[in-house]
Amino acid sequence: MKTCRLIYRSIAESEILDEDSLARLANLAANNNRRFNICGILVLSNGRFLQVIEGQSKFINRLYANIVQDERHHDVELISYEEVSKPEFIDWNMKLFSLDEIDEHVRELLVNKYPVVDNKIQFIDDAVLMTSLLLDIKHLQK
Ligand SMILES: Cc1cc2nc3c(=O)[nH]c(=O)nc-3n(C[C@H](O)[C@H](O)[C@H](O)COP(=O)(O)O)c2cc1C
Repeated sequence: MKTCRLIYRSIAESEILDEDSLARLANLAANNNRRFNICGILVLSNGRFLQVIEGQSKFINRLYANIVQDERHHDVELISYEEVSKPEFIDWNMKLFSLDEIDEHVRELLVNKYPVVDNKIQFIDDAVLMTSLLLDIKHLQK
């Protein structure tokens, strides 16, 4: 069975953007994902989501089909889907990172490397850059 990594971006609906709703979503996602050996992180910046999910292709495909239909966000856009030899985000079944609330020194590192508008990090349709951003977040937050 193939192991895959899927990355997408989307725009959050405002109802999901309070701390409680986001924490609930991330907890539920982590519990669901654990059952299917799915791992990944969910990143929030300025009301936009960037998520990576990794796991067996049939589970990743099914989860993404659910996520696309979820009304808590819209304009879901696939950035990359690839087969990988091993998952990179195994520390978390799902963990939320808000780039609006990270330490200033972490923020400075990211801001110097990734696209920024009005001091907010942008999630762009570039698979290499977004994979690199997700890996940097993983390393910087560990
Ligand atoms: C931005 C976002 C990310 C999500 N990530 C996950 C996830 O990683 N795992 C998951 O099971 N559900 C995730 N969900 C929720 C799914 O869209 C869906 O509600 C859930 O998988 C339904 O699970 P259930 O049918 O078992 O209740 C996410 C939803 C949103 C809006």
